[in-house]
Amino acid sequence: MSKSVYISEFAAQVGEQVTVHGWLHNKRSSGKIAFLIVRDGTGLVQAVVGKSHVSEEVWQRLEQVEYEASVRVTGTVREDRRAPGGYELSLSDLEVVGRGSDDYPIQLKQHGVDFLLEQRHLWLRSPKQVAILRVRDEIVKTIRDFFYERGFVNVDTPILTGAIAEGAGTLFSTEYFDLGTAYLAQTGQLYNEATAAALGRVYCFGPTFRAEKSKTRRHLTEFWMVEPEVAWCDSECNMRLQEEFVTYLVKRALQRCERELTETLERDLSRLQAIEPPFPRLSYDEAIERLKALGSEIRWGEDLGAEDETLVAQDYDRPVFIYNYPKGAKAFYMKENPEDPRTVLCNDLIAPEGYGEIIGGSQREDDYDKLLARIREEGLPEEAYAWYLDLRRFGTFPHSGFGLGLERTVGWICGVAHVRETIAFPRTLNRLYP
Ligand code: 4AD
Ligand code: MG
Repeated sequence: MSKSVYISEFAAQVGEQVTVHGWLHNKRSSGKIAFLIVRDGTGLVQAVVGKSHVSEEVWQRLEQVEYEASVRVTGTVREDRRAPGGYELSLSDLEVVGRGSDDYPIQLKQHGVDFLLEQRHLWLRSPKQVAILRVRDEIVKTIRDFFYERGFVNVDTPILTGAIAEGAGTLFSTEYFDLGTAYLAQTGQLYNEATAAALGRVYCFGPTFRAEKSKTRRHLTEFWMVEPEVAWCDSECNMRLQEEFVTYLVKRALQRCERELTETLERDLSRLQAIEPPFPRLSYDEAIERLKALGSEIRWGEDLGAEDETLVAQDYDRPVFIYNYPKGAKAFYMKENPEDPRTVLCNDLIAPEGYGEIIGGSQREDDYDKLLARIREEGLPEEAYAWYLDLRRFGTFPHSGFGLGLERTVGWICGVAHVRETIAFPRTLNRLYP
């Protein structure tokens, strides 16, 4: 009996006989020598064997094994610098556990993205998708480490909610027993504000939902967002936390995912190595001036579109803050700017290289009367916000927070243009399968 190992553990197994459990990624045979590429989720390895080295029965299996068959491969680990991953397996036995098929839908040739999305459950097996999911996992872990190390408390916020936070236009709703309509959370922020008054520094991290009718490379209808909320922190302090956070995420990805980023995703690491605080800051007014100079038709008062974000970011090698947007372009809960009441104390953080807005953040309106006036102006149902207004009645306090979109961040770090490849099963306007 040889021991079972993962391909990622081969470095410690040179000269040993081992068994790998995996799936057949590719194969070729000259009639005398067979080459199998096997993947096990931790890597790929080439298994090689000459016909004269195995029994006729094993050779038959080698000749007949189909794409994506699940297999047990036994052999001796050899170091081979030319082999992918640096090791090879001299095969002595092959056992087919579950048959594959030579009609496996995803062949090695190029497929259109619609086809691949329809086959997402199988597409996930390809090395690029595996690499993206590994980087995503590392980023998720890093997010939690960052906040844990700084004394934040993770408090989960509800997904079924009664209040609208980010605008009525992108709500998913569902009937909720005798209580009328419930909405799927667009954000956990309003609840974070309540828990921040209990615990000081908190964050929520979970799926959020927006009925986005836009088909862009930055929009999903279900995406993950991490949202810290900090008591006694103003907009300036909020931006400092954001740049520290984003830098930390990038550094950890460089440290822990170098192989995925370089070998599989072919990411230009120098672009990521440039990410250091402080990030440049442009007021909204300055951004509008710059955009006009670059040929954009944006007018004061409008939010930046995706093209504007790409344009304004092109001047910088690191993410850029745009702060203090006009009130009308942003959500009702943002704090009025005392120095220019037409604007609010908020910021977006725009990633370089055309990846667009990865963070939206703000200081929150802590004045009861101003907040109530904004709720009325927006025509929001006041009853649903009674508890939120209570936070301003009982010990109101300056506080700020932000939301970082996980998929856009993973897309940027991996150098993947479309967010649909950064989540295992993307949900978009026209996709609910698989
Ligand atoms: O700017 P947004 O809408 O901010 C909020 O929801 C605030 N309540 C956050 C807070 O202050 N606690 O969204 C934050 C981020 C965006 O910058 C973007 O990265 C991501 O969430 N995002 C999306 N990602 C994928 N698909 C979508 N449809 C997204 N909408 C927002
Ligand atoms: Mg935003």
